[in-house]
Amino acid sequence: MQAFTYRSGQLFAEGVAVKDLARRYGTPLYVYSRNHLRERYEAIASAMAEVKPLICYSVKANSNAAVLKTLAAAGSGFDIVSGGELFRVLRAGADASKVVFAGVGKTREEIEYALKERIRFFTCESEPEARRISECAKRLGLTGRIAFRVNPDVDPKTHKYISTGKKENKFGLDLDRTMQAYEMAAALPNIEIAGLHLHIGSQILSADPFGAALAKVKDFCLALKAKYPSFTTIDIGGGLGIDYKPDQQSLDPKVFAATVMPFLRELGLNVVMEPGRCIVGNAGILVCTVQYVKESYFKKFIVSDGAMNDLIRPALYQAHHEVWAVSATDKRVPGDLVGPICESGDFLAADRDLPDVGEGDLLAVLSAGAYGYAMSSNYNSRPRAAEVMVDGDKAFEIRRRETLEDLVRGESDIR
Ligand code: LLP
Repeated sequence: MQAFTYRSGQLFAEGVAVKDLARRYGTPLYVYSRNHLRERYEAIASAMAEVKPLICYSVKANSNAAVLKTLAAAGSGFDIVSGGELFRVLRAGADASKVVFAGVGKTREEIEYALKERIRFFTCESEPEARRISECAKRLGLTGRIAFRVNPDVDPKTHKYISTGKKENKFGLDLDRTMQAYEMAAALPNIEIAGLHLHIGSQILSADPFGAALAKVKDFCLALKAKYPSFTTIDIGGGLGIDYKPDQQSLDPKVFAATVMPFLRELGLNVVMEPGRCIVGNAGILVCTVQYVKESYFKKFIVSDGAMNDLIRPALYQAHHEVWAVSATDKRVPGDLVGPICESGDFLAADRDLPDVGEGDLLAVLSAGAYGYAMSSNYNSRPRAAEVMVDGDKAFEIRRRETLEDLVRGESDIR
């Protein structure tokens, strides 16, 4: 479904006019479509139905409790990367046996928390981490199940900051060291070898790199399966890309499935997936109000109340997000959409044909559901935005706007 569409010249989120939400909750405002979340989850589940994967939604993309609860109700498990994310998913009612824990720097506290909650497995990023999981599990009298993350050294052809499966990235083990790592870990106390993990990067628009990665680990997985009876799972990570630009096409789960299925069929293992962006990315927009339209000799700057602290992707990755006027206009002007933050990198769109809007008009920055609010900050002492979930013709405030008091919460004077 298209979650955000125009009806009689007004932008709607499902059945609710965005301008009414902006009036009611103020701006900058994140607006999400609950049915889009559900549909994207189902699209992946149905494309991959042959192997009945455990879909572990990647919490880092958008960790609001309402998002987590919506997906948990659809049957989703969760891919987490911190004790904080574990806390969030448990609070949202997740089944811990559907939780997998990734990340290169898990602390003892985080490992023990996850062990006590009996998560499904750790995707283990290094030999020292396996030793640490073993120590923690032994101390607690529990078993640490692990799937080593392998770095298959394939190029996912995405932004270098979000490529994770090339040999120069910090993630995973080099393939030719991995068998030794499994042997070492299998001999550790309180460790069970659960499977193997791959995650080669994010915003990948072609299925080919996923196939290339599986081709590289297939024989290796078959050997591990033969060697360790507890080796039952392949976790193929996330990374399916979405259409940020009109000339892009989201990676269709069916196309993805057609590429990976031959490998998965041959492996005969349980399959875990960790999609984030492709579920939540196009389920969200960031709504801003134009404060000023400023002309310089060189450019027109549309200054909005939304800024890089609300959505850092354009500043950090030169990411493209479409910008729509909430009240439709055909008129376009060349310029930049910028925020009030004191940085030249504070833009939501640069050198673009933007809707010709004026002070007080509303703009929607599209495809902001993933890594939007989740990466927001209080930089320049800006209270963080509110978040609203729309379901049909109903809207729910799922996080209130921060107040000035929230900004100083937790600070104390020198005594
Ligand atoms: N699994 C693991 C182990 C991951 O590290 C990630 C994302 C995912 C799954 C989910 O990937 P997705 O399906 O969302 O592509 N902040 C960046 C993206 C960073 C992705 C980090 N890891 C951005 O805004 O583009």
